[in-house]
Amino acid sequence: MEALARRRSSREFQRKPLPPPVLSNLLWAAWGINRPDGHRTAPSARNWQEIDVYVATADGLYVYDAKAHGLQRVVARDVRAQIGVQPHSREAPLTLVYVADEQKMGGADEESRRSYAAADAAFIAQNVYLFCASEGLASVVFAMIDRPAFAQAAGLKAQQRIALAQSVGYPKP
Ligand SMILES: Cc1cc2nc3c(=O)[nH]c(=O)nc-3n(C[C@H](O)[C@H](O)[C@H](O)COP(=O)(O)O)c2cc1C
Repeated sequence: MEALARRRSSREFQRKPLPPPVLSNLLWAAWGINRPDGHRTAPSARNWQEIDVYVATADGLYVYDAKAHGLQRVVARDVRAQIGVQPHSREAPLTLVYVADEQKMGGADEESRRSYAAADAAFIAQNVYLFCASEGLASVVFAMIDRPAFAQAAGLKAQQRIALAQSVGYPKP
């Protein structure tokens, strides 16, 4: 109840990075494996688990590997300026980008793929919002994404569709 009462969008962040244990818990809360059969903390249509969580920090761009509960490096440079058009996405120490791999979405038609990917990403985003509320972190989910710039920076394939992004960090006092 407390986390729900504190859940809100904030767009002003300190630059201080998240300590590794906080980032680890944040990613597990977002989209970690919470059952022995590989199911996750967020639901997904037909359990396709098609969303990849890209993790952009000052150190580089990574993708969350839920099975290993670790990060795989994608690019060894700061791509935060290539994600959003608002200042928060480059100022926050961490911006998550939720990317659907449409190849994992069975034979669903275009409209279903889009709506399921948007819904599945939104569940992850709400997990992140609630984790942030419980940890005293600030967060904002956003759709105003520079999709071509991020797709190029991350080397996304044609079947990868950017659904949403979300900045996280310590709130400005
Ligand atoms: C699908 C979606 C897209 C959003 N896109 C943006 C965005 O591009 N930029 C932004 O600053 N906030 C964005 N937001 C955050 C909303 O503006 C925010 O949730 C809303 O104003 C309500 O405020 P609250 O989250 O504090 O309750 C988005 C929220 C959702 C759910």
